Amino acid sequence: STNQQWGGRFAEPTDAFVQRFTASVDFDQRMFRQDIAGSKAHAKMLAKVGVLTEEECDQIHQGLTQIEGEIERGEFAWSVELEDVHMNIEARLTQLIGITGKKLHTGRSRNDQVATDIRLYLRDEIDNIEQELQRLQTGLLDLAEREAETIMPGFTHLQTAQPVTFGHHLLAWFEMLTRDADRLRDCRKRLNQSPLGAAALAGTSYPIDRAYSAELLGFSKPTENSLDSVSDRDFAIEFCAFSSLLLTHLSRASEELVLWTSAQFDFIELPDRFCTGSSIMPQKKNPDVPELVRGKTGRINGHLIALLTLMKSQPLAYNKDNQEDKEPLFDAIDTVKDCLRAFADMIPAIRSKKDSMYEAAKRGYATATDLADYLVCKGLPFRDAHEVVGRSVAFALEKNVDLSELTLEQLQQFSDIISEDVFDVLTLEGSVAARNHFGGTAPEQVKLAVKRAREALA
Ligand code: ARG
Repeated sequence: STNQQWGGRFAEPTDAFVQRFTASVDFDQRMFRQDIAGSKAHAKMLAKVGVLTEEECDQIHQGLTQIEGEIERGEFAWSVELEDVHMNIEARLTQLIGITGKKLHTGRSRNDQVATDIRLYLRDEIDNIEQELQRLQTGLLDLAEREAETIMPGFTHLQTAQPVTFGHHLLAWFEMLTRDADRLRDCRKRLNQSPLGAAALAGTSYPIDRAYSAELLGFSKPTENSLDSVSDRDFAIEFCAFSSLLLTHLSRASEELVLWTSAQFDFIELPDRFCTGSSIMPQKKNPDVPELVRGKTGRINGHLIALLTLMKSQPLAYNKDNQEDKEPLFDAIDTVKDCLRAFADMIPAIRSKKDSMYEAAKRGYATATDLADYLVCKGLPFRDAHEVVGRSVAFALEKNVDLSELTLEQLQQFSDIISEDVFDVLTLEGSVAARNHFGGTAPEQVKLAVKRAREALA
């Protein structure tokens, strides 16, 4: 026998390299609070059903509380020989309270223990992430409201298409995040079931009360099947899928922010505190924060693929492979929190360069569709109107002026049904104001959309 907690049937100690190779304590110790909460609930359940006495349960609780303090104060001596967070804490408990500590693991396995810990850990972080997401969304709504009237070019194919309001563009980002928040809540709902009591894989012969320990830990109910309980990591995959989509959205927004801060676009100013300089080019102010968020999307997508691949060939029930779930999941959590924080801090600090946006919209013949619609109102079929406007644009391009800068006579060369009132529809203000329906870009609609969104967020 060796001195490992499971050493009874072993004739020689673990190879030193194998010990390091199989240990997870370096990265799973971050779940110590959840591990202790899970153990306390388990002990309390065992006392309720008479497997432990009340005094034993109290002793265990006091010991675990002391250990939690030791870890928080940085006094706890983590040992790689004890493999993981679970056995480190359990060994210390026995050191502190003696023989009763050895009773804690009755009717339990590290397999249901670790499944419980990860769910509890992820649940806590989901709650933090939900709050940060909401802070970002609130910042977006404030900015969208301030920019409800600001006119910019809207793009398709990154070519100027039609004028839109900046507020409307920001609300498009807001919608993406609303779906993300919804997916996050959905993930939380499905993960919030207690695997505790599944033990190694088959359940346990003690008269346990799984509903009670589930309730103590704030789970909605115990999981249905013991084999599934110890082998399911869907919740981690779902969280990473949520993260991938969230980062996809933040990355798209980042790409636009990077473009917009360039001299060629010159649509916005990011405050200096969100940018960095160049060690060689003194004039530079680089949008590092959005660039990095865009870049972090790659590692998040990697984590999603890592977890899917980790699970795809595992036979039931628990396999040691599952230990590999933690690093991708934890890094996804950390990265999502950092990116959300960066965005939530940065978005309210964006300053729009209204004149420059306006000029860009004007330069791109953004009101050409409005001219076509004008001709349709005067009786021309849309395809003919399209042709007329196309020829007008070619003419204006040659003269290097905007459509609104052509004279009435010049416009009439292309269609004699054009009259003086055409200039009303050729303005950018007229164009955006005309798109005044649910979901449209008109300033009035943007303000209404902000109002609805605020109510939905609250
Ligand atoms: N450290 C392990 C993990 O992360 C805990 C469960 C180990 N169970 C076992 N039977 N080896 O998955």
